[in-house]
This record gives sequence, structure tokens and C-alpha cells, in this order.
Amino acid sequence: MILKIFFWLFLIGPCKVSAAACNGNDALCSRKYSNITQIGAHDSAFVGDLPTDNQNLDVTGQLNAGIRFLTAQTHSFLNQIFLCHTSCWEEDSGVLADYLTAIRTWMDSNPNEVVTLLLTNGDAIAVSMFADAYDDAGISKYTYTPPNQLALGDWPTLQDLISANTRLITFMDYNSNTGTVPYILE
Ligand SMILES: *[C@@H]1O[C@H](CO)[C@@H](O)[C@H](O)[C@H]1NC(C)=O
Repeated sequence: MILKIFFWLFLIGPCKVSAAACNGNDALCSRKYSNITQIGAHDSAFVGDLPTDNQNLDVTGQLNAGIRFLTAQTHSFLNQIFLCHTSCWEEDSGVLADYLTAIRTWMDSNPNEVVTLLLTNGDAIAVSMFADAYDDAGISKYTYTPPNQLALGDWPTLQDLISANTRLITFMDYNSNTGTVPYILE
């Protein structure tokens, strides 16, 4: 009888561990978002072998490889938000909404993962246009909006973010406006 109980504990133990993991590690669940280290990919949308490219894997491949912090450079082109390297004549990696759709699709099938996006907005594109791209990509549902401006120690834990399914943290370098779009943080 006792042996049997031990046997079942053995079976249940490892399953519980893998189900609870946050960003691949149980120890991160209780950590505040502001107290974790992430691996990032600079200019994550510029994929290929040219000198203007930064990455060999596309954004889905980067996420599969463990990248959880993505930066993307945006430019205004043809009245839309494009991901271009310095200029769209130099390198054009398509519209922001397509890039966001790839991230959203990955997040759909990886519900215990928190992803951070840093968007650059050197062309001062209206932040409401970014919100339109988020809506088009179906990724707005995952965005995290802080209740107020957070001090370093006030951030939620990874488990908080995962439980609320607000698993996408977005920062913008310049020209954000949290009054208009509260989840694009400055
Ligand atoms: C960050 O996490 C570590 C490990 O859990 C903990 O020892 C440390 O106190 C935390 N720091 C802050 C500022 O929360």
C-alpha cells in the first residue's frame, strides 16, 4: 500500500512541475517582472543574410529559441507602419501588423510565456495607429496595462501576468502616449 502511494507521487510530481513553469522555469513564477533577466533580439524583424539584417531566425524561430524580449524599428511608409531598417528603401520587412500576428500566433500556443516588445518610433507615428495594428493582429487581448506608473518593486509577478493572460509588455522609445494607448509604455 505504502509503495503504491509512493509510486503515484512519483508520477504526479514531475507533471506538476512542468505545468506550473513560467517562461520555462518554476522559479520565475513568483518573481516580479522587474526582477527577471531575459534574452533579447535586437532589430528582430530584420531576418536574412544581408549586411542590413540582424537575425538569422524569424520572430517565431526567435521565440522558439527562448528569446522573450524583442525590439523592432518602425517607420511611416505608404501611410502605414512598416518595419524598416533606417529607411524602407534600404530594408523593408513588411507591415507591423504581420509581425505582430506572428507573435500573437506563438503566444496563442504558448500560454505560460510572457513576451516583451520594445518598439522604436523615430518617425513619431501617432500611437493610435499602433493600436490599430495591435487590433488587426488580434494581439491587443494580451497587452498589459499597469494600474498606474509603477515603481520598480510594484510590478506584478510572471504568474500574475500569466494568470490574467496579460502577457505582452510593450515599451516605446519615443512618442508614446499612455493617455491615448495605455498599454504602450514609455
Ligand atoms: C529578486 O528575486 C530574488 C530571487 O527570488 C530575490 O532574492 C530578491 O530579493 C528579488 N529582488 C527584488 C528587488 O525583488
